[in-house]
Amino acid sequence: MAEQNVIHVKARFEKPAEYPGRFPVPDSLVSWESGYPDYSPPYYVSPVVLRNDSSNNPGGWADPEDISLLKEIPQQSFAGMLRHDAKGRALNPAGRTGIAGRGLLGKWGPNYAADPIITCINRRDQSVEMLAVQRRDNGQWAIPGGMVDKGEEISGTLTRELMEETGVALDMSRGCLIYQGYVDDPRNTDHAWMETTAKHLHLDPETARRLDLVAGSDARAVRWFPLTPENICNLYASHCALVKATLIELGRAGRAGMTQSERETVERLLHAL
Ligand code: BGC
Repeated sequence: MAEQNVIHVKARFEKPAEYPGRFPVPDSLVSWESGYPDYSPPYYVSPVVLRNDSSNNPGGWADPEDISLLKEIPQQSFAGMLRHDAKGRALNPAGRTGIAGRGLLGKWGPNYAADPIITCINRRDQSVEMLAVQRRDNGQWAIPGGMVDKGEEISGTLTRELMEETGVALDMSRGCLIYQGYVDDPRNTDHAWMETTAKHLHLDPETARRLDLVAGSDARAVRWFPLTPENICNLYASHCALVKATLIELGRAGRAGMTQSERETVERLLHAL
């Protein structure tokens, strides 16, 4: 997936309602390499992040707001070696976002998520389907992903999130790596951003039908979601790009057990995208 090299858009033009307006960042001034002497983004850290500051709340999930209390300043992430500003804060590897501070993200620097992508072919109507959840926060359909817990292995996060959000138990360490890197997410700021690891498992129709789906607490609903071009484009955050990359991989590899007509179904969908 080429997104890591693509200029970020949501991180400049979208934001959660509680954020202040982003300072304008034209395409030509996104890169930290380009001088932007007038750049003065508002500083924002959400009250929920401050309430979870681990330096004064022992159960808190967020880094200390006072960066000097941070045990280790991240030097690199999946996006590569990081650069830092004069205050020692790691800078967004995709460039300026128009907001300083951490916004709604708990960690200074990279905030890691994991996205388990499970697909199957519906033999009734020859469509490609994905196990998806409808998010409680914004009603959008999404990959059942979530944040990597402290000290957790990423394949553990993938398996845990899948179970918590959909009730499905699958060992995601067997999954095929689709993407690992920066995510163009509306919550991103100059000093805190999302990165994800997406892994994919394709199930045969019988295995898929046998699974019992149970929506977890963060989800309004869970279902086998038909991957039509329109549905794919309306997925949450950058999940559209992750799903497209999955279909390309699936079309290229053609999984064992996939019939010729199932392969053609994937190819047709790819053409329509
Ligand atoms: C979501 C992931 C998503 C990531 C980046 C996380 O909150 O759970 O599914 O990929 O944010 O947008």
